[in-house]
Amino acid sequence: MTRAITLHDVSKSYARGPRVVERLSLDIAPGEFLVLLGPSGCGKSTVLRMIAGLEDIDEGELLLDGEYANDWQPSERHIAMVFQNFALYPSMTSRDNIGFPLRIEAPGADPRPRVDATARMLGIEDLLDRFPSQLSGGERQRVAMGRAIARHPSAFLMDEPLSNLDAKLRNHLRAEISRLTRELGVTTVYVTHDQAEAMSLGDRVAVLRGGVLHQVGSPREVYALPRNVFVAAFIGTPRINLLRGLVRAPLDGAMTISLGKQYLRLPEPLCLDHRLLRVQQGREVIVGLRSEAVRIARHSAARPGEVPLTGLVEHMEFQGHETLVHFNTGSRPAVVPELEAPRPAARPARRRRREGPGMLDRLRERAGSLRAGPVVVLEDPADAAPDPAPPEGRLPGDLVVRTTPDIRLHHGMQVPLLVDLAHLFVFDQHGDRICPAPVRLPDLDE
Ligand SMILES: Nc1ncnc2c1ncn2[C@@H]1O[C@H](COP(=O)(O)OP(=O)(O)OP(=O)(O)O)[C@@H](O)[C@H]1O
Ligand SMILES: [Mg+2]
Repeated sequence: MTRAITLHDVSKSYARGPRVVERLSLDIAPGEFLVLLGPSGCGKSTVLRMIAGLEDIDEGELLLDGEYANDWQPSERHIAMVFQNFALYPSMTSRDNIGFPLRIEAPGADPRPRVDATARMLGIEDLLDRFPSQLSGGERQRVAMGRAIARHPSAFLMDEPLSNLDAKLRNHLRAEISRLTRELGVTTVYVTHDQAEAMSLGDRVAVLRGGVLHQVGSPREVYALPRNVFVAAFIGTPRINLLRGLVRAPLDGAMTISLGKQYLRLPEPLCLDHRLLRVQQGREVIVGLRSEAVRIARHSAARPGEVPLTGLVEHMEFQGHETLVHFNTGSRPAVVPELEAPRPAARPARRRRREGPGMLDRLRERAGSLRAGPVVVLEDPADAAPDPAPPEGRLPGDLVVRTTPDIRLHHGMQVPLLVDLAHLFVFDQHGDRICPAPVRLPDLDE
């Protein structure tokens, strides 16, 4: 039996503090693999613990198979949880660790057949007589999984179960978890802050920020139609390029967005998007371009649906199978507070830094206090820059473009680029997506 899990307007705060989960609603279908994704502290574990019954729900409802379950005991829920730190009993062998919950649930019954069947499924038969201290991290995590699986739960809750493992093992176990949960057909809620993990595992991904659900959808949907700047920036590597632009009056039927001294001319066929953009005339917007939305056009003409832009090569990252070229287009990047990594202070400061906290500290502070507030900061970096202006008054690279590894470019080169309008996002000042227009596209419905 696998469970449907429904959260309806669920809120939670600790010790009368601020809400760490804010009116969260989610419908998780029986057998579905749902990933809760978000930065540290956004409330992922709290949501899992409320589903498991380890944490009270302040407001709202939890339904298990449609039944009101807020006050059910954890043991009545038939849900197994796997934690990040394997939590095995050190004095028990793997066999006893896996069999322990079975002995608690059915004291008279012999747990061995189930333990053996589970061990076969996980390929850990040879490890059953070892103690946790005699196991590697990956093996321990497999035993911990075994302990959850052997109970034949009606749902799995997994809280960053792979984050203590090295990258190779993580990939391996990730595939195993995916195979196992699908084979068992058990509803699974999986927590991670790793977007690549979320995208590769989830039937659907639910993106949380500051306790608020920002979007839930298939991996394809959250990547191709992010609802706002936060989701766009959180999902995908390299990170989406976010450039601050200004919407100009339409000219010859085309809307224009200025990016610094350059313009993006958006021709008529954007129709509904055009009407929405027209409302933004004279206002600042954020243009979102994934690294594959722009190509280098030194030897090729524009195809239909492409518009030109020029970039100055700032930096090249050779990655083997591809090269990421960092261009400077002269536009200003938008800041998504929680997602900004501190920049290395590579260049000496031109301006003396003011005393007191730097911009990142202030942004973090703001992000903390905003929680569910705006997802983007449009303050002028000139007055908050922790980093000095780069040499010759140029801004550092603001546009990363993915290209083939054999590309021949060098630092300081001026390169013609083409932007594929089919992959252009425009977000308003609050970070909400305007283009493509916020309607579901039929070919994205699976
Ligand atoms: N027992 C507690 N008492 C008080 N505050 C708590 C408690 N547990 C969590 N919090 C706070 O609630 C917020 C959400 O915490 P939670 O553990 O759910 O986040 P998370 O998304 O799982 O983060 P991480 O990715 O770091 O595990 C955080 O601000 C955290 O400090
Ligand atoms: Mg957590």
